[in-house]
Amino acid sequence: MLTKTIEIALNKQIRIEAESSQIYLSMACWAEIHGLEGVARFMYAQSDEERTHMLKLIKFVNERGGHAQITELKAPKISFGTFRELFEELYKHELFVSESINELVHITLGEKDYATHNFLQWYVAEQIEEEAQAKTILDKINLIGDDKGGLYLFDRDIQQLTISNSVAISPK
Ligand SMILES: [Fe+2]
Ligand SMILES: [Fe+2]
Repeated sequence: MLTKTIEIALNKQIRIEAESSQIYLSMACWAEIHGLEGVARFMYAQSDEERTHMLKLIKFVNERGGHAQITELKAPKISFGTFRELFEELYKHELFVSESINELVHITLGEKDYATHNFLQWYVAEQIEEEAQAKTILDKINLIGDDKGGLYLFDRDIQQLTISNSVAISPK
């Protein structure tokens, strides 16, 4: 059974994952209308991934005697400046999510809820991966600078990243 404190904290995370999914969906649309097909595909895949993060939490809450809450979400931005700003924002957002997961893990220790603590380890590992991925992409963008040819290749590269990622995550 979940304590009320844990249930509320998990529901907050459900909302954050749902909002993350919406943010990346909005980023996908922005990239798509700007002709960045590879980036758009990457963002659509990220959005799907965040939805699976949300669903995994929902299932856990409901199976442990809680009630997962589906709530109104904060609307994401619809415009992202440059594609570099787009990825800076993605990176910052992942840092924010990591912080939120850490806080959640901290709460489970306070409540002596080791089952939830154990469950959350998957999210801890996932955030390490997502932060590293976002950082790698940002480093690439910094290498490209304002070079249009570089941007073209980057857009193609990131499409590859999406394909290899979806192969890697398919057993989940
Ligand atoms: Fe997530
Ligand atoms: Fe994420």
